[in-house]
Amino acid sequence: MPTLFDPIRLGQFECSNRIFMSPLTRSRASREGVPSPLVREHYAQRATAGLIISEAVGVTRQGLGWPFAPGIWNQAQVSAWRPVTREVHAHKGRIIAQLWHMGRLVHPDYLGGTAPVSSWAIAAPDNAKTYEGPKPYAVPHMLNVAEIKGIIADYVHAAKNAMSSEFDGIQLHAANGYLFDQFMRDSCNQRSDDYGGTPEKRTRFIVETVQAIADAIGADRVAIRVSPAIPLQGCVDSAAEEVFTRVAEAMRRIGIMFLEVREPAPNLRKVTPPPHTTNWPAVPLIAARLKAAFKGPFVVNTGYDRTDAMAAVANGEADAIAFGKPFISNPDLVARLANNRPLAQHDLATLYTQGAEGYTSYPAWKG
Ligand SMILES: Cc1cc2nc3c(=O)[nH]c(=O)nc-3n(C[C@H](O)[C@H](O)[C@H](O)COP(=O)(O)O)c2cc1C
Repeated sequence: MPTLFDPIRLGQFECSNRIFMSPLTRSRASREGVPSPLVREHYAQRATAGLIISEAVGVTRQGLGWPFAPGIWNQAQVSAWRPVTREVHAHKGRIIAQLWHMGRLVHPDYLGGTAPVSSWAIAAPDNAKTYEGPKPYAVPHMLNVAEIKGIIADYVHAAKNAMSSEFDGIQLHAANGYLFDQFMRDSCNQRSDDYGGTPEKRTRFIVETVQAIADAIGADRVAIRVSPAIPLQGCVDSAAEEVFTRVAEAMRRIGIMFLEVREPAPNLRKVTPPPHTTNWPAVPLIAARLKAAFKGPFVVNTGYDRTDAMAAVANGEADAIAFGKPFISNPDLVARLANNRPLAQHDLATLYTQGAEGYTSYPAWKG
C-alpha cells in the first residue's frame, strides 16, 4: 500500500504526495470577483500540497453570493487567475479550480433585487451573507428545464475559462447545500419532472453537467466533491445512500479524475456536531460504499489529523486526504506532517477579512 507521502497520478498529471489542500473560501477578491494579487502568494506558499483545490469560484454572477469571493465567468477574472496557476506551477505544484453555483443561497442583493434560483421554490433556513451583514434567505425561483440547460452551459463556459487560466482541471462543488445539493436532496427538491422525484431524477442535473464539461475539457480534468453524511444549509435526504451511490456509479462511467467525499474522520465520529450541521450523526457513513462504486481515485475530507490520514491511506480507505483548516495556518503542512511537527492554529477573526493578515502571514516552521 502507498503512504500519505507517495505520489499519485490523477488523469494527465502526477501529484507529488497525497496531502491535498481542501477548497477554502477566503474573500480576497474584489466585489467584481477578480482575485487580488495576494491570492497568488497565498497559493504559492501552499504549493507543496499534492494538489490544491482552489476556493470556490463563481460560475456566474447569478451563482455567487459571498462577499469578496472570486468568479471565473469573464476575461478580467480569467486573466487574474492565470498568474496564480503559473506561480503554483513554478513551485512544482498542481491546482484545480472549484466551480460554484450557490443557488438559493445567493441573496437578491447580489442580483439587482431579483430572486435567486434553485430546484424548488423553498427558502433556505438562516441568513445569507451580504455586504451589509446577514439577511434572511429569499424564496428562490424554481428553474425550468430550459434554464437548467442554461446553467449547464454556464458551467461548461466556466470550465473552459479555467483551462484558459491554466488550471490543471476543475472540481464541481456538489457539497454543503449549494445548487447541486439543492437538486440531489429531497428536503429541498420536490419537483415532479425529469429533475426531481426519484434518486435517478434528482441526480440528473449533476450527471448531465459533468458529462457536458467532460465533453468540453476531458473527463480526466474533472472532479466532484460531495457531502452525503454532512447535511448542511437545509439540504437533507431520505435516501442519501441510494442517491450518492448513483452519483458515484455515474462518475465511474464518465471516467472523472477523482471523487472527493466529505465525511467525519474517525477522531470526529465520537464528538459533538460542527456548527450549522443538521441530523448529526444520524446519517449513515457511506464513503466506503461510494469508493467501491466509483473505483477511481478517492479523496476524503473533514477533520483528518496525521494519524487518521496515514491510517486511511495505509488501509486503502482513501487514495488521498484533503485538509482544510490545517492549511490555513500551516502553509508547509506537508513538511510538518512528514516530520511530525506541531501544527499552528488558525485565527478565526481573519478568515474572511480582505488583507494579508491571517492569509499570507502564517510562517513556515522555523524549528
Ligand atoms: C474558512 C473556510 C472556508 C471554506 N470554503 C470552502 C469552499 O470554498 N468550498 C468547499 O467545498 N468547502 C469549503 N470549506 C470546507 C472545507 O473545504 C473542509 O471541507 C472543512 O473545513 C473540513 O475539513 P478540515 O477538517 O480539514 O478543515 C471551507 C471551510 C472553511 C473553514
